[in-house]
Amino acid sequence: MIVLTSRGGEVGIAAAMETLRAGGTALDAVEAAARLVEADPTNHTVGVSGWPNLLGQAELDASIMDGRTRASGAVGALQGYRHPISLARQVLERLPHVLLVGEGAARFAAEVGAETAELTPEARQGWEAWLALHVPQDVRRVWPPRELAPYAQLTADPEQPRGTVNILAQDGAGHQAVAVSTSGWAWKHPGRLGDSPIIGAGNYCDDRYGAAACTGVGEWTIRCSTARCVVLYQQLGATVEEACRRAARDLLDLPDRRRIAGWVNIVALDRQGRPYGISTGAEPRCYTFWSDGMAAPETRQSEHLVA
Ligand code: GLY
Repeated sequence: MIVLTSRGGEVGIAAAMETLRAGGTALDAVEAAARLVEADPTNHTVGVSGWPNLLGQAELDASIMDGRTRASGAVGALQGYRHPISLARQVLERLPHVLLVGEGAARFAAEVGAETAELTPEARQGWEAWLALHVPQDVRRVWPPRELAPYAQLTADPEQPRGTVNILAQDGAGHQAVAVSTSGWAWKHPGRLGDSPIIGAGNYCDDRYGAAACTGVGEWTIRCSTARCVVLYQQLGATVEEACRRAARDLLDLPDRRRIAGWVNIVALDRQGRPYGISTGAEPRCYTFWSDGMAAPETRQSEHLVA
């Protein structure tokens, strides 16, 4: 049994390990951990405490994938609800679909009685401070302007100082699952989806070969199908370390990558549940894991690959 998280997932790792030790499934464990991250008021890139879009709205993305069957559920640009990860699981379990977005996702959330929540006052203040710094007063007075696109160009690295969350687990029966949840790129254009709700980009899990998930610039990983590639490279015979390196190299090889500033961090498991992490960008990142038999979680620095 193991639980592996990207940075920010530490608040949920004990709940995930308790779930596994009590005989719960990997799917139960990753959902339990992601819910705690979504409820963490100090995390400004996940849940309703996350920095909002250009209009000051929390638009949340999440996905969950079951390695036993590759069954998946995801929601994108969800407004008004606290736990997008649980709604993603409801999509997986109740619908013949994989991904619901926007109003349709919110409608489904109301239908299943999901807990409602609004952007926190602190996140709202962060948005107001950003507007005050970047938008001239005359435009602010009539905000939003007809043309938002020029302001989307100003938005910062989506995940400073903490990241979208990835939670990966392998349960006592050897099954794996992955949960990913985010509020996305701070001050993004409304309707922007990152890689977190895109199965294959930000999340992939296949019991036969392993699991992977990403934080960082979703605009890169969507183009490279990064999470899927980490699992596919393992299917083709690579170790988890080699698979992560090849997938990170695919990202660094994007010829116009520098058009969008940022980085990607990949966390992955191999078929046996061995964890690994790799990051691109200026600073090295880290990952945290807790295997059965360890008294406490351990944080390790991800391998750092630069162009
Ligand atoms: N990786 C999270 C995002 O791009 O929104």
